[in-house]
Amino acid sequence: MASNRHEIVEKNVGLLAILIIIAISFGALVEITPLIYQDQTTEPVKNLRPYTALEMEGRDIYIREGCNVCHSQMVRPFRSETERYGHYSVAGESVWEHPFLWGSKRTGPDLARVGGRYSDDWHRVHLRNPRAVVPESNMPGFPWLEENVLDGKLTSKKLATFRDVFGVPYTDEQVANAGDAVKGKTEMDALIAYLQSIGHAMK
Ligand code: HEC
Repeated sequence: MASNRHEIVEKNVGLLAILIIIAISFGALVEITPLIYQDQTTEPVKNLRPYTALEMEGRDIYIREGCNVCHSQMVRPFRSETERYGHYSVAGESVWEHPFLWGSKRTGPDLARVGGRYSDDWHRVHLRNPRAVVPESNMPGFPWLEENVLDGKLTSKKLATFRDVFGVPYTDEQVANAGDAVKGKTEMDALIAYLQSIGHAMK
């Protein structure tokens, strides 16, 4: 019975064509429908602000030092996660993140809600030598961050790139003043400013 029906389709080119078109239409719908809602998923959350010049430099140091190899920035929508870290991550928080640092490997805790959890001084001590504040920690120390001083030569260009390529709403003034805003600060200052800013929009 079933094989007979299949034969009908195979021997009738018109019917075959119509059925093929129906099958392809479903595939197309699955591909196209999400695009219609793209505006909603790429809408920044209400309190989102672009990174300051110092935070932007800190983020680059975070990437350079491989912090994202041990730390994710993605709170999943499960109770075990939200009880520990706070509100689960939403798409609108990450619209100006390039590259995003969500990750999945957690040698250390997730950092998506770390902003404001500790004082600047705590971070300073912890980054210099994690064992000074968390005795059982196996996170490496990053003492050189306190000695390296930023010259701010590329900071304006970084902000301008985020504005021109990714549409991050920096003003001309912010771009122009970016170098001066970071010049003379240590890499440690920048990294801590960045850490304190993570998750600010969901507080
Ligand atoms: C080899 C893996 C590893 C690397 C690399 C690493 N960490 Fe960690 N990190 C950990 C572990 C493990 C902990 C938990 C113990 C502790 O608090 O020190 C931690 C804890 C932290 C905490 C405290 C989080 C909390 O909620 O208590 C912060 C902040 C942090 N790391 C920032 C950083 C930054 C910034 C870098 C890069 C400069 C970095 N980590 C690199 C493993 C790592």
